[in-house]
Amino acid sequence: MGVHAHRNLASMATSFLATRLMAFSLGNTPVIISSHPDTAKEILSGSSFSDRPINDTARLMMFDRAIGFSPSGPYWRHLRRIATNYMFCPKRVSSLEGLRQKVSDQMVVRVCKQMADAKVVAVRELLQKGSLSHMVESVFGGSLGNSQGEELGLMVKEGYDLIAKFNLGDYFGVGFLDFYGVKRRCHKLAMRVNDLVSQVIEERKREGGFIGRNDFLSFLLALPEEDQLSKTDMLSVLWEMIFRGTDTVAVLLEWIIARMVLHPDIQAKAQQEIDTCVGDQRHVRDSDIPNLPYLQAIVKEALRLHPPGPLLSWARLTVHDCHVGKFFVPAGTTAMVNMWAITHDPSIWKDPWAFKPERFIDEEISIMGSDLRLAPFGSGRRVCPGRVLGLAAVHLWLARFLHQFNWAPAQPVDLSECLRLSLEMKKPLVCRAIPRARS
Ligand code: HEM
Repeated sequence: MGVHAHRNLASMATSFLATRLMAFSLGNTPVIISSHPDTAKEILSGSSFSDRPINDTARLMMFDRAIGFSPSGPYWRHLRRIATNYMFCPKRVSSLEGLRQKVSDQMVVRVCKQMADAKVVAVRELLQKGSLSHMVESVFGGSLGNSQGEELGLMVKEGYDLIAKFNLGDYFGVGFLDFYGVKRRCHKLAMRVNDLVSQVIEERKREGGFIGRNDFLSFLLALPEEDQLSKTDMLSVLWEMIFRGTDTVAVLLEWIIARMVLHPDIQAKAQQEIDTCVGDQRHVRDSDIPNLPYLQAIVKEALRLHPPGPLLSWARLTVHDCHVGKFFVPAGTTAMVNMWAITHDPSIWKDPWAFKPERFIDEEISIMGSDLRLAPFGSGRRVCPGRVLGLAAVHLWLARFLHQFNWAPAQPVDLSECLRLSLEMKKPLVCRAIPRARS
């Protein structure tokens, strides 16, 4: 299906009149896919679909003991509870505003430097670096050296390359063969991750004093004896947070900035909203975001047109025989939701191809998982636990970028897509950022 799998699957579902449910097989693996909010809700919220199929690549990269791939039993519930209480609870997300502001400041300095040196801004690289330092510091705290942070960035990139590769062994029962050397690369990557993260854990244990620190690793080390994770499990969960939290945020912001460059009228309207709310004597703060409905509508509209996980990234697996609508689905079936197809369906969205943030001013639509017309973070028990943290960064960084710069094209903006684990812009965005004149 390649880099346009979401589009190809959407066209197939339409031409076979199978938007509610389409069934096919990938080698020996039975698959169903929903391109309709009703069946999507049944799949995502139903208890029958609470596992995920795990492939060789993910297992070799140590994700089988992390939240995303653990079967939905007591271990998964334990991890989700720890993550919800310590990594993602609203109090902690708001306590990380200082970190988000620090990363904004660093990105603004980089924008100015790139403009001075090269007269253009390489947006993707800027956002990847910013998002990586945000995740690294919220997971490990500020004590990681620059080289360790950069090494983690390289490992995330390698992990994305590997996980996006189609592995015949996953579907055709030839798992003992190593097509394209993917397994060898996975082994090597797992060893690098293991070495680096183990070193960080050991250093932190030696330092002690976990209580009162605001990083996820310290929270894990401070857990009561009966809740403690083994070292291997801790390592998988920490690596998963960095891996999943970095790219999704950077990819979404790159699409949003591309849209701002393409639609200067929308950019100006958002800037006017920010100016009215914030003025020109200070930077935007988290507490301003609820008063910036148009900015929030821009983020929603970008999530609608360019959902970072158009097939909701990681599929579900039926744990027992069940029904979706009137169709029988046997246990062991891989179930996917084509969120991209739903968010581009003209029977659900008026003028679905147009970028119109106003549609979310006219109608309040939640993006957090309760309304399956737009559920870019999934829904149900396995909904994305990082959505509030991710959105806090996206809103604040976007507001600060728009408050401080006018964004203009340096070359024609190409909206072609490329689906790897996330839906990326095929050509990295390059643009100009001109500091805004203040009266
Ligand atoms: C724009 C940002 C993000 C998007 C669009 C996104 C999207 C998603 C989606 C579609 C799922 C699958 C949900 C389902 O099956 O119903 C998911 C799961 C997950 N996400 Fe996110 N995500 C984002 C940010 C983050 C961040 C910042 C983190 C962590 C730091 C994170 C961690 C996870 C984890 C651990 C899971 C697996 C949950 C489970 O299986 O129980 N995500 N995400």
